[in-house]
Amino acid sequence: MKTVLSGIQPSGKLTLGNYIGAMKNFVRLQEDHLCHFMVVDLHAITVPQDPADLREQSEAVAALFLAAGINPEKSNVFLQSHVPQHAELGWLLTTLTSMGELERMTQFKDKSSGKDSVGAGLFVYPALMAADILLYNADLVPVGEDQKQHLELTRDLAGRFNHRYGDYFTIPDPYIPKVGARIMSLDDASKKMSKSNPNPGSFIALLDEPSVIRKKISRATTDSGREVRFDPDEKPEISNLMSIYSECSGLSLADIEARYEGQMYGTFKKELAEVVVSALEPLQQRYREIRESGELAGILSRSAERAEAVAAKTLAEVKDRMGFVRKG
Ligand code: AQP
Repeated sequence: MKTVLSGIQPSGKLTLGNYIGAMKNFVRLQEDHLCHFMVVDLHAITVPQDPADLREQSEAVAALFLAAGINPEKSNVFLQSHVPQHAELGWLLTTLTSMGELERMTQFKDKSSGKDSVGAGLFVYPALMAADILLYNADLVPVGEDQKQHLELTRDLAGRFNHRYGDYFTIPDPYIPKVGARIMSLDDASKKMSKSNPNPGSFIALLDEPSVIRKKISRATTDSGREVRFDPDEKPEISNLMSIYSECSGLSLADIEARYEGQMYGTFKKELAEVVVSALEPLQQRYREIRESGELAGILSRSAERAEAVAAKTLAEVKDRMGFVRKG
């Protein structure tokens, strides 16, 4: 059985982009893969986080994994900081990574641009992400389009390690959905929808109230013209809304075009809001049940123990190969 690993940062309220680009596929993949799904809290601190917010958001992301349908009997759902081997392998891989490789990462360029002071963690975090994946010798990594470059670095680092120290790591493949790999901001379709965007109107949070979702969609920017047609180059804003519609309803883009032929954007947006509200309602309900049940801590701890058993073995073998002396 192939191994899958992916993670989401607790750096804000999870968005519809995180759900469509990543979580929906997690649920699908767990049917026939051995899966590890992590709340990557060590990644979240690459930008400043308020401690109380970090704690709350970490539990919220874990509960959302479960609410979205990840079954903790089948898959491991855990916090990255509960498995200390991530940070240690992250350091070992950092020493195999060149400055030039990290400087080329577009996410670093985007997140650091215009800032007076940029943390070193933000710069080196792709090596930690490589460690997350390689610790479990994952075959497949379900991510949105924005993470493709980081995954390529992971592949390069795995290849470099194998070349220097003998074949060991599996070279992982990305698993990127065809539709929904890049859900864009509601206020600007040239930027991806992002949970850390300071404008809450730019994203739909998975836990937004129905009235908030309706308001955000009704205010979403639309292209000039009036045709509901999928054309990301000419009509990026409407095409983005159509992708959301398709992912939340199961209808194809062609079905949606046919349904709204001759209709105004207003009608389309109104119905889109209802489609999104109905898609999120059951998830929100399950989320509340999980948070109230008090079962989360136990699930996270059991999963972390299972994950650590695998991670500790990998790390010990990696350190042997690199020439570290085993503790007697
Ligand atoms: N807009 C998006 N469309 C499709 N997929 C997306 N992902 C994120 N945004 C979109 C995918 O969600 C997973 C988790 O991402 P992450 O939390 O590790 O960090 P990120 O990619 O940086 O996501 P955000 O929401 O933009 O977070 P912040 O604002 O904190 O940086 C990944 O698989 C990602 O591809």
